[in-house]
Amino acid sequence: MNKPLTLNAKFTENFVSAHEFEAMKPFVSAADKLIKERNGLGNDFLGWVNLPVNYDKEEFDRVKKAADKIRKDSDVLVVIGIGGSYLGSRAVIEFCAPVFGTEKEKSPEILFLGNNLSPTHMVEVLNKCKGKRVSVNVISKSGTTTEPALAFRVMKDYLEKEYGEAAKDRIYATTDKARGTLKNLSTETGYETFVIPDDVGGRFSVLTPVGLLPIAVAGLDIDALMAGAQQAMKDFDNDDLDSNDCYRYATLRSIMHRKGKTTEVTVGYEPFIASFCEWIKQLHGESEGKDNKGLFPASMIFSTDLHSLGQYVQQGLRNLFETVLWIKNPKIDMNILSDPKNLDGLNFLSDKTLNEINRNAFMGTVLAHVEGGVPNIVLEMEDASEYSVGYLIYFYEKACALAGYMNGVNPFDQPGVESYKKNMFALLGKPGYEEMKAELEAKLK
Ligand code: PA5
Repeated sequence: MNKPLTLNAKFTENFVSAHEFEAMKPFVSAADKLIKERNGLGNDFLGWVNLPVNYDKEEFDRVKKAADKIRKDSDVLVVIGIGGSYLGSRAVIEFCAPVFGTEKEKSPEILFLGNNLSPTHMVEVLNKCKGKRVSVNVISKSGTTTEPALAFRVMKDYLEKEYGEAAKDRIYATTDKARGTLKNLSTETGYETFVIPDDVGGRFSVLTPVGLLPIAVAGLDIDALMAGAQQAMKDFDNDDLDSNDCYRYATLRSIMHRKGKTTEVTVGYEPFIASFCEWIKQLHGESEGKDNKGLFPASMIFSTDLHSLGQYVQQGLRNLFETVLWIKNPKIDMNILSDPKNLDGLNFLSDKTLNEINRNAFMGTVLAHVEGGVPNIVLEMEDASEYSVGYLIYFYEKACALAGYMNGVNPFDQPGVESYKKNMFALLGKPGYEEMKAELEAKLK
């Protein structure tokens, strides 16, 4: 079987020389040691490292059973969560499931709620639920985050009005094993609950029930997802920079960052990768962007964005590098028709498949961007299967941890996220924030 993912560094060679790469080896080994020996910053949150092997098998079975039940008794699953509590499941579902569903074995529609404060979005989700059989999976590790808590208040009321007492059998809570409002509410009301392990932070939690339940409800194979992650765990459990693609990726981006390439653009050539890019952006952004440093994670989908941001990439500020996620064998390909009149002049493409054309767009773009001063790291994925995506998830998690340690930050906290929350609570008049409210209101005048 081919490796699910291979790194091609050819298009960074004009920017990163062999001796620079060599010089990073001691730093990589030191950061790797911090992960292995569990004595770096934030070492309470290293549960994801062995998770592909060391996960609760009994709970994994319960996830599958709950997913089977939801698939039978629901037309819609509303997944309530924000940040790490929804980005991973949405990323995997969109990556692996057919875009418009299959008619044969129709999966429930998955709607995501509680990841913003938009009344329009909230009401539209409620309207979509009307007349359908609905279940809810509310996900919050802290159990106290405002956006999902508010959305859950709304959905709980909706389900109780529709189903009365039986509403509780349609609510699944994924949260801390003991703490938080959501845990207390679930115990009191009798919801089926799933646990987010203490030592796994939100953005590293996609392979826990946080991601697994919605992914299984979408009809995807969570055994294959875990198996792919297991393979990656094995492949990347060494600090050999000549063979470990995960560490090679972290090292290349670290070198480029130090040379002024302060923005990493993750690029996909398939629209179904867009949500995976959002997951990557959260993973890198929250893990590395602190203490006034860190690469800025951005993303683009080509060829779509070549007709908008492509101009900037080619000729704008030269602080960018790209990491391309190329899928060698996409789930679907098609032949281009030959037209007897050839009025559109496209018959030169008619012996090719659409994916071959996409590949040539990719090659042409890489060459142009490199020429324009934008190095490209290429991550070639074998396919878009659950196995490969599980592998990719672990690849990114480990690279992110290594990069954080190499840059001297705690990759597992997110202290900056609190600032907006405090201001919002004060402005909304939450008890205990009276003094702050007056200060902020004075600033807004
Ligand atoms: O990675 C993280 O820890 C965060 O993005 C959280 O996932 C996000 O803030 C949601 O938190 P919670 O699951 O506690 O509601």
